[in-house]
Amino acid sequence: MVQLRIDDMQIEVIAGTSVAAAIAHVGGTTRTSCTGMRRAPLCGMGVCFECRATVNGVAQERTCLLPVADAMEVRTHG
Ligand code: FES
Repeated sequence: MVQLRIDDMQIEVIAGTSVAAAIAHVGGTTRTSCTGMRRAPLCGMGVCFECRATVNGVAQERTCLLPVADAMEVRTHG
């Protein structure tokens, strides 16, 4: 199991889970469009960029391509 923080939630998921799946597990979405619409992963394979979030301080990470890691910090909206 891996423990990470998504926004203000401390969660535990199975090792190997993608960050996008961990976000979905807690009912979250990944980003807000320029028109204010909530977005969520679409392709799951790194093409659409709808799954972007800030991970460990790095903005615009494609969370569908990123496996969870212990003590990871994910910010879904800024
Ligand atoms: S879900 Fe499409 S790039 Fe991540």
